[in-house]
Amino acid sequence: MEKDYSKYFTPSLKEARKRLNKEVEMIKYDMPNHLKNIGKNKFYLIKTYGCQGNLADSEKIAGILEQLGFSPVDDESAADIILFNTCAIRENAENRVYGELGRIKSLKRHRPDLLIGICGCMPQEENVVNTITRMYPHIDLVFGTHNIHKLGEYIYDAYLNKERVVEVFSEEGNIIEGIPTKRDHQTKAWVNIMYGCDEFCTYCIVPYTRGKERSRLPEDIINEVKELALQGYQEVTLLGQNVNAYGKDLPSGEYIFANLLLDLNEIDIPRIRFTTSHPRDLDEATIEAMAKRGNIMPHLHLPVQSGSNTILKRMNRKYTKESYLEKIDKLRALIPDLALTTDIIVGFPGETDTDFQETLDLVDKANFEGAFTFIFSAREGTPAAKYEDDLDMSIKKERLLTLNKVVNDGYLRGNKRFEGKTVKVLVEGVSQKNPHLLSGYSEHNKLVNFPGDQDLIGKIIDVKIEKAYTWHLRGIIESDHS
Ligand code: 5AD
Ligand code: SF4
Repeated sequence: MEKDYSKYFTPSLKEARKRLNKEVEMIKYDMPNHLKNIGKNKFYLIKTYGCQGNLADSEKIAGILEQLGFSPVDDESAADIILFNTCAIRENAENRVYGELGRIKSLKRHRPDLLIGICGCMPQEENVVNTITRMYPHIDLVFGTHNIHKLGEYIYDAYLNKERVVEVFSEEGNIIEGIPTKRDHQTKAWVNIMYGCDEFCTYCIVPYTRGKERSRLPEDIINEVKELALQGYQEVTLLGQNVNAYGKDLPSGEYIFANLLLDLNEIDIPRIRFTTSHPRDLDEATIEAMAKRGNIMPHLHLPVQSGSNTILKRMNRKYTKESYLEKIDKLRALIPDLALTTDIIVGFPGETDTDFQETLDLVDKANFEGAFTFIFSAREGTPAAKYEDDLDMSIKKERLLTLNKVVNDGYLRGNKRFEGKTVKVLVEGVSQKNPHLLSGYSEHNKLVNFPGDQDLIGKIIDVKIEKAYTWHLRGIIESDHS
């Protein structure tokens, strides 16, 4: 028999599409006393999929779990609670999670007290919640992107009632400030500056799963970055689905992304990055703020998606190939050494060979130094999922391969320009591929490997680049550091 979940809210993409004209309130997070210690002597494991937004959310989830008394553990079989923080952007991301949820079933069979939860973007979709409630009875907790702050209550309910908890809000809530954060890194930190997206690109599920655009107050962001600087963090990445829309929803409407960048430029922290930008909303004030340099890094991720004006229009991107190229001309006029990266989708419904050639032409002209490339994936509930799509998958795959070849040339070209030069590297740790090397990122966001002592981890040092490869630079430390 189907259980009754009416005590809780379940998702609706139709409701999620509505942009209600309701003022967003800033609420201070508080943990009710009866929840403290419910995780005492228990262990948690979070598995995160998808974008930096999810990485940042997982740090908040970890913060809440630790406040409840849970301790972290890497080993699944030692965990008392396992949470999957999921991504809905493409079908293969979802399939990977379904595979994991199936696999984890046997663990639960041996350990009936284990709590398994799914959160993040997937539960914001009706079809996912229906599938999980029907076909994955071993999943105990289902919650979405708008109610992370209620995690303590959900765990309490699940323990107390020994019943599955499913609660997903379609409508975004207020901005919750002060959720404890357990950061993954000690040198670089994510800082959300806004939540949600109002762009409604026709292929994209994000405006439905993350709700309407809501900016945090400038003072809350500035204070967080100041605090991180005091704690010794070297790099902050500002997060938003469309950071260039920052501030437009705030009451004054006058304090925009460029103002925020300029204010953060005053803070004594070595590196500020941000992602993601929208080509239409990236304005001159932002380009000028970036050109001031200071702690703002000379790298921009500016997703173009396609080089065909017909496809861009059908994607609802609101710019053309020409206006995109004009914008990057402006960027390069003020920031000549800028490293530009992008996202591109191939095989959008109706994409002809001529459209694809336009994309290749744009890639050629734009001089990208990196790109994430994807085959279009139909997301239920988005307009593009209903567009006629009669192109064979084999042709889409071929286009992706052709595109990737050109994109990889760009990676190498972008790396080659640093051969023989000295670059500043924030040392992150031991190289994953070679334990004898350290690795880190340059100001232009290039991966740099070099031999060095582990006590350099967390520091910014000068590295002379000896050789450029497609995916990384190889160098040696400039002598005054050794
Ligand atoms: N299919 C393929 N790629 C997508 N992206 C977003 N939605 C889809 C989809 N339905 C890509 C876009 C975006 C990046 C984060 O993911 O390129 O910029
Ligand atoms: Fe999706 Fe477009 Fe918003 Fe990016 S700007 S999150 S692609 S709707």
